[in-house]
Amino acid sequence: MSSQLTQPFPADFVWGAATAAYQIEGAVNEDGRGESVWDRFCATPGKVRAGDSGAVACDFYHRYREDVALMRELGLDAFRFSIAWPRVLPDGRGRVNAAGLDFYDRLVDELLGSGIAPYVTLFHWDTPQAIEDAGGWPSRATVDAFCEYVEAVSQRLGDRVGRWITHNEPWVVSWVGHGWGHHAPGRESEADALATAHHLLLSHGRAVEILRRNSPGSQVGITLNLDTPYPASDSPEDAAAARWVDGMHNRWFLDPLFRGEYPEDMAEAWAALVPEVRDGDLATISRAIDFLGVNNYTSPLVAADTNGGRSRIVRRNDVDRTDMGWEVVPEGLHDLLLRLHRDYRPGALYVTENGAAYPDVRGHDGHVRDAERQSYLEAYLAGAARAVAQGVPLRGYFAWSLLDNFEWAWGYWKRFGLVYVDYPTLERVPKGSFYWYRDFIAAQRARAAEEAA
Ligand code: FCB
Repeated sequence: MSSQLTQPFPADFVWGAATAAYQIEGAVNEDGRGESVWDRFCATPGKVRAGDSGAVACDFYHRYREDVALMRELGLDAFRFSIAWPRVLPDGRGRVNAAGLDFYDRLVDELLGSGIAPYVTLFHWDTPQAIEDAGGWPSRATVDAFCEYVEAVSQRLGDRVGRWITHNEPWVVSWVGHGWGHHAPGRESEADALATAHHLLLSHGRAVEILRRNSPGSQVGITLNLDTPYPASDSPEDAAAARWVDGMHNRWFLDPLFRGEYPEDMAEAWAALVPEVRDGDLATISRAIDFLGVNNYTSPLVAADTNGGRSRIVRRNDVDRTDMGWEVVPEGLHDLLLRLHRDYRPGALYVTENGAAYPDVRGHDGHVRDAERQSYLEAYLAGAARAVAQGVPLRGYFAWSLLDNFEWAWGYWKRFGLVYVDYPTLERVPKGSFYWYRDFIAAQRARAAEEAA
């Protein structure tokens, strides 16, 4: 077990791994699935590296049984996956495609039969193209469409799924997808980004109500990408810049969800851009939820921007970087968990994604040695363990990702998996970190059992 880990995790801590539909499933034209914005984006020249797409991905759609067997070998308590809206409602709304739901039905049963709890994300970015064509997330009507989809899914799976995550990383969908155009649907409008954020949040609140009705006894939450922006110095200017980044990444989503209000400083700064917020919207958005999902990979060092901007990210020279160029800042996760507990008091927290890309290769002996990924995971888990010891109600941890997969605009170039995927053959090769995580989970369980005895 990790030498860095001084504190044990509680006996009932949930050990998991996470994925998302478009990144692993493939089978984009099968069983009546409709087109998603990511199919369209990938087909648009210059948007995704090397013209990659999720058309085949890991072929999880056909190989999920083999992959669930890998999860069993890993000793997972839980598997986080997402449902593809265009499989369920190929036209975005209206006609429900039973064959699309059948796949998730089989997957859920396969997991439950293996003693693995399904943690289901309802939206991990694959908006039906028909919804985008009708106005997409910047349009308020998409909230109703999303509710139709959530009705269909929860009516079918609500009796067996115990954990629901409404949305994954609304910040990324809003800003990266609609503000800056680096992700589908590729819009470049700040007003669209903020309208998208509001409608994602509103649809979350509406979905909570639907899930409570159709999946009684289940727990419902949302996953945000969050970080700890550290000011680069003690100067008031750098502090203000860090606060701006905190407002943009974190508070813009946390405040409405947990306090029923948008943060005043940001709302003022964005006054000309914010969409219409109707009476009752914030009450809907702040409906009680059972847990907050936290995705965290890195945390920025922030300084004042002397060129007239609000902030500037400062490159650290004293830290390691992953293959994404992301800085390895494990104390950022620790500090974030403490801060969330202190400022927002969610009833429970899960790390729903954490992990690292490295340029893995298969050695001559067939093995994939990824010591760096192991160190990354050890360091972040040590940070999480310290937060638990300090009273944060962190209930589980999901490594991103089970498999190497389609990393959005980066295509297959970036590998995040505990399991290496040889794309030409789709062969799965557990990496060193897979065996390490397996032994780590087993050691945690053994320790908990010893303590209970
Ligand atoms: C997160 C996404 C996930 C994956 C990781 C690396 O932003 O939720 O799908 O791409 O980053």
